[in-house]
This record gives sequence, structure tokens and C-alpha cells, in this order.
Amino acid sequence: METNKFASARAQSMPNSVFAVMDDAKAEAADKGLEIIDLSLGSSDLNPPKEAIEELKKAVADKSTYGYCLHSCTRAFRQEAAAWYERKFDTKINPKKEVLPLIGSQEGLANLLLATTDPNDTILIPDPGYPAYFGAVVVAGLKVEYMPLLQENGFLPEFDKIDSKIAKKAKLMIISYPNNPTAAVADNKFMQTAVSFCHDNNILLVHDFPYVDMVFGNYKAPSILSQKGGLEIGIELFSSSKSFHMGGFRMAWAIGNSDAIAALKQIKSAIDFNQYLGIQKAVIAAMKSPQEKTIADAHVYQDRRDLLVDMLNDSLWQIEKPKASMYIWAKLPKGLNNSVDFAVNLAKTTGVSLAPGRGFGQRGEGYVRFALVREPEVLKRAVDKINEFLD
Ligand SMILES: Cc1ncc(COP(=O)(O)O)c(C=O)c1O
Repeated sequence: METNKFASARAQSMPNSVFAVMDDAKAEAADKGLEIIDLSLGSSDLNPPKEAIEELKKAVADKSTYGYCLHSCTRAFRQEAAAWYERKFDTKINPKKEVLPLIGSQEGLANLLLATTDPNDTILIPDPGYPAYFGAVVVAGLKVEYMPLLQENGFLPEFDKIDSKIAKKAKLMIISYPNNPTAAVADNKFMQTAVSFCHDNNILLVHDFPYVDMVFGNYKAPSILSQKGGLEIGIELFSSSKSFHMGGFRMAWAIGNSDAIAALKQIKSAIDFNQYLGIQKAVIAAMKSPQEKTIADAHVYQDRRDLLVDMLNDSLWQIEKPKASMYIWAKLPKGLNNSVDFAVNLAKTTGVSLAPGRGFGQRGEGYVRFALVREPEVLKRAVDKINEFLD
């Protein structure tokens, strides 16, 4: 980072994003007049439920939605979020004490760390992991212990390999399945083990769960809160960005242990007001909208997955098809191991932009992540360009 006379030590120690380097590479390709095919960002290109957009239009014309929205004004949202969760997981949730609206799960996670840890506390986070985790732990001033996610373990952390002294010290653990970036999934048994481990060690278990609805075939993504003891030590973060393709609207929600929710509410009240009521109403409408669209949208991603993985496997790649998410996590073809060099050169030469694995942590090196956020014909074109580049 360049010297900045106003930056705090905290701001200066923010991890440097490799995505900034990718941005420069994309700009260089655009300057050359290349078509940019950006598969580096997990920003869904599908439409939100039409009911959500209708509701937002109505709200924008309704003056009663224009003012500050204090906690009591989020009641309808909390009630619908609890009902939405109960429909999915058959577990009762108290909308007064166990639900809190968020301005994105990224914001929610950063504030949750401030709400439930103190500086120098120990946190367990996955490597590779969603990059916002690395920034959020710096903001909260935490000591990080990484849980390696290795391909040979299905990209799941091995709780029995965590040193017992570290486990006793840790205040909080983050897990996230379906996973970004690895697209790995977990089953109920894994979630129960995670809950029991955190219970035994008095750790708050945070399950970042935005991909709950992006699941394929018969696979159903399990919740930690419906496991035995889950609500005693767990909190889950859900997001309209993925469930309803509403990333720009900034609306998410936390469901979980009432003490963790109360602490998060305390911290948030010093930092932000709640999301615009019109957007809350839109997401309520999305939650109530027919499940068929959610299922059809997941199918769109599943078909794109099949197309992309089959085409890549026909050339130099060896990729297993994931059961969920909007990503393909691909080990670089033989002989290549620097993900940033690969992704930067690919973008500069062809205009195809992928996320270099290194951007997700040390153990992401050697991989790239494809986000399935473009139509099939564009994905085909991207693979052709990648093949030409590799030739
Ligand atoms: C694992 C994970 N958590 C959180 C987020 C951020 O979601 P939101 O838009 O709700 O802040 C993302 C977005 O890609 C994600 O992949």
C-alpha cells in the first residue's frame, strides 16, 4: 500500500486484493478492444422474482416507506424470514429474538465479529475462503487460525486436526457450505459434527449460507440450526444476493442464537440503520414467491455447470461437477501453478476473466474459480478462448 498519512494501522493492514490486479488486466484487455467475458465475480445475471420488483415499485411510490426504519419497523421482515426458514428446515424460529435483517451478509459478518469477539481473540476460518472474511478479521483485530480445506477431504475442515489448545481459545468459527470458492457441499453429519465441536469448545459457530437455494438434483443444503444444539451456539447468514439474484439491493438476514443476534443488533445500531423498507418488502415478496422459480434458476446454473465442465474436461482440465453453488473450482492444468499469473495473462490476452485461487487464501493457489454468470453461448466462447490461450 502507498503511504497514506490518514490511514490507521488497521486500514494499512487490510489484505491487498488480487482482484484489483485482475481489474487492471481487464481494463488493459478492454483498451485493446477485446470482448470482456467476466467470469470472475459471483454476481448472478438471472432476474429476481417479478413479485419482488412489483413490490419495490409500489413501495417507491408510497411516502410512508421513506423514513428511517428502526427495529420495530423490521417486524414484518423478521416474521417472514422466520417463516421462510421454517418452511425450508422444519425448525421453529422466534422472529423477535432469533432473526435480524442485514445490509448484505458481508456487512453482517463484519459486524458480527465486532459484536461477539474482542481484539486479539482467536477465530477459526477456512483457507481457501470468501475474501471478505480476511478483511473482517483485520477490522475486528483477531488472531486467525486457518482451517485448511483440501481437495482430498472434499474441501471440508477436519475438526479432529484442530489443536485442542487452539480449540479451547477460539471464540468463533466460520464455515460456509455450499462453499465459495470451492463449490463443495456438506451433509447433515458434517453439520452435526461442527455443532458438537463448537458446543464442546464454547465457540460461536457462524455458518455463512448464501447459497442455500443454489443446489442441484436431489441435494439439499443442511442448516446448522436444525442440528441438535444448533440454536445454542450457531448463527446463519442468508442473502437475497444469491437466493433471489438481488446483489445490488443489499439485503440479507441473520438467524440464530438469541444472544448472538442481540449482540449483533447492539453493534449495528451504532453503525447503520436498517435497509430501506421498500427493499425489505421486495425481499418479503421474494421469500413468498413460488418455489418453482428458485428451482428453475438453480437448473440454469446446473446446465451451465454441465456445459462448462464437459467442455473444459474435453481439453486439459480435470474437474468434478459440483452439487451446488454458481462456481466451478478448477485445478490449473498440468505444468501451471501460479493462479494470478495465469488469470492476469489470460485476461490481458483474451478478455476472459477468472478469479485466481490465490485471492481466496494461500491454499487457493493452483486453482481458478469460474463464476457461471453468463449465458451458455458466452461460456462456450470463453472456453474456446481459454483453449486457444493454452495452446
Ligand atoms: C460465501 C459468501 N458470503 C457472503 C457473500 C456476500 O453476500 P452479500 O451480497 O449478502 O453481502 C458472498 C458473495 O459472493 C459469498 O460468496
